[in-house]
Amino acid sequence: VGKSTLLLEAGAMVAADGPVLYITGEESAAQVRLRADRIGGVSENLYLAAETDLGAIVSHVECVQPRLLIIDSVQTIAAVDVDGVPGGVTQVREVAAALTAVAKERAMATILVGHVTKDGSVAGPRTLEHIVDVVLHFEGDRHSRLRMVRAVKNRYGPTDEVGCFDLGEYGMIGLADPSGLFLSRHREPVPGTCVTVTLEGRRPLLAEVQALVCQSALEMPRRVTSGLDASRVGMVLAVLQRRADVKIGKQDVYAATVGGVRLTEPSVDLAVALALASSVANLSVPQGVIAVGEVGLAGEVRNVAGVPRRVAEAERMGFRRAIVPSGSDAASSGGSSGMEVVEVEDVREAMQAALRD
Ligand SMILES: Nc1ncnc2c1ncn2[C@@H]1O[C@H](COP(=O)(O)OP(=O)(O)OP(=O)(O)O)[C@@H](O)[C@H]1O
Ligand SMILES: [Mg+2]
Repeated sequence: VGKSTLLLEAGAMVAADGPVLYITGEESAAQVRLRADRIGGVSENLYLAAETDLGAIVSHVECVQPRLLIIDSVQTIAAVDVDGVPGGVTQVREVAAALTAVAKERAMATILVGHVTKDGSVAGPRTLEHIVDVVLHFEGDRHSRLRMVRAVKNRYGPTDEVGCFDLGEYGMIGLADPSGLFLSRHREPVPGTCVTVTLEGRRPLLAEVQALVCQSALEMPRRVTSGLDASRVGMVLAVLQRRADVKIGKQDVYAATVGGVRLTEPSVDLAVALALASSVANLSVPQGVIAVGEVGLAGEVRNVAGVPRRVAEAERMGFRRAIVPSGSDAASSGGSSGMEVVEVEDVREAMQAALRD
């Protein structure tokens, strides 16, 4: 995903103000140097050691006196007087506890890299979360260059910040304004697409949902989703059929996001519903329309967090009509000139508001 790249870059930046020690237990020093050359992360004050022994690392710390210590990764480090293999629960806990003690004693910022499998089941690193002050998740999709750093735990500050980066050949480039990354640019409106605004931490992000409903040649019609939660899409399909007379029946349904973004917030339900309904009716949602809201089993559109902030972001990006749950405060608090805010009670009303033209 690019952990070493991000930390090497961050380390080089911090090194402008004082010594930084980067411990690599996975790669050779030469390999890290190659990367540093590629991403412009070479700095006189950035010290590098390929080391896996805890004692040796502590000696390096005493020698370099860094203001920032980076351990890549904690699973490769072992303490000689502790049983167990490196990366095992016992070793990881001991190593993390020892490094925490050194860090607190010296008031030295310390970053530990810990790998977690997809289901988060590696026992070692999980115990880390209780030992450390801050837990950051670094996420990204294999097929996209977008990377996000998300705070999961923070003892001394907020957890609702997200950092967005573009991972390229020359390293990570911070994306100050990621909105627009997940929109496709159609010249004409196309049936089956709808734009929504998600909240990644405190940051609103525009994203497009696309759906295609077509005649199936199979006994069991296909239900294919990408970037969306398959069971939520299934639920929205059922609600559309039962509550809004959208006829889907034995047709194949494809639903996807644009640009590889994962949208799992319930607030994307309404955009999914409108994209599906739009594809079935072969009517397009006009350009400049966004939809936000959770869809309930009774067909109602439920309020979600931060609707005014989402609507404001959509307006900033040039959108002109927002379909939002009723009671979401977006109409009043926005007070904005260019944005028409349509509050809806249920999916039927939303469909009318979006597809009436
Ligand atoms: N020469 C290169 N040009 C462009 N991208 C590169 C180049 N070399 C590596 N990359 C990209 O950098 C990323 C690897 O980053 P990095 O090694 O920092 O990941 P990591 O999370 O530390 O991985 P690991 O868990 O194996 O340590 C990959 O996505 C890779 O495609
Ligand atoms: Mg690495």
